[in-house]
Amino acid sequence: MNLLPNGNEVGILYMGDARECCCAYMAEAETTGNTQVEGYVSYTLPHHMNNTLIVYYSLFQNTVNLALKIAIQTGGTIRELVPDKNYSFDYNTAAKEVRNQIARGFCPILISGSESIEDYRTVFIGTPNWFKTLAPPVMSFLRQHDFTGKTIIPFCTHGGGGFCQIENDIARECSKSTILPGITVNGTVSSEEIANWLEIIGYELS
Ligand SMILES: Cc1cc2nc3c(=O)[nH]c(=O)nc-3n(C[C@H](O)[C@H](O)[C@H](O)COP(=O)(O)O)c2cc1C
Repeated sequence: MNLLPNGNEVGILYMGDARECCCAYMAEAETTGNTQVEGYVSYTLPHHMNNTLIVYYSLFQNTVNLALKIAIQTGGTIRELVPDKNYSFDYNTAAKEVRNQIARGFCPILISGSESIEDYRTVFIGTPNWFKTLAPPVMSFLRQHDFTGKTIIPFCTHGGGGFCQIENDIARECSKSTILPGITVNGTVSSEEIANWLEIIGYELS
């Protein structure tokens, strides 16, 4: 759920195909702590907006929050990557697992998210920065698909390192694509910042 400037809270309940979205809002959630859903809004986006896919992996929710903000502004379809074995929520345990996988170039099996990308011309690819590179489930996705002729836009959340090698890693795996400059977020990002970035990179609905 995201707080709106007026203190209300809004969240996407359903966004499998962003052409059919359903949002709920809680009136004055910020000031009153209200968690009661006051109403639902559902809307259908025009069909031509559906050529954008927003793919992400997220363990601690930062990257999914960024993915949702991008989806709201682009009207794209959002897709979560789910590996067959999830990582521990304990940092030290996760760090050990991840270091080991990255060192081996291990790409986990995806139990969700590996469906065809044929219908999409623009693909936003989001990952947390894990030891300066992509989370392994994102590498699994990149290795499973042919991105020839598509426009790829990276995004990442991090703890201070920014993209590090992530943009280069994506460019290497998508060598026959147009790669636009991505966005990195450490903490929160406003809708205006997302909108400015999309304008600067020349993102267009395709
Ligand atoms: C195993 C692991 C390794 C990480 N390595 C880095 C790193 O090298 N550089 C960095 O800036 N942040 C690093 N972080 C911090 C994450 O990139 C950051 O918390 C990110 O927003 C998490 O995204 P998520 O909430 O979508 O999982 C690491 C976090 C974890 C769990």
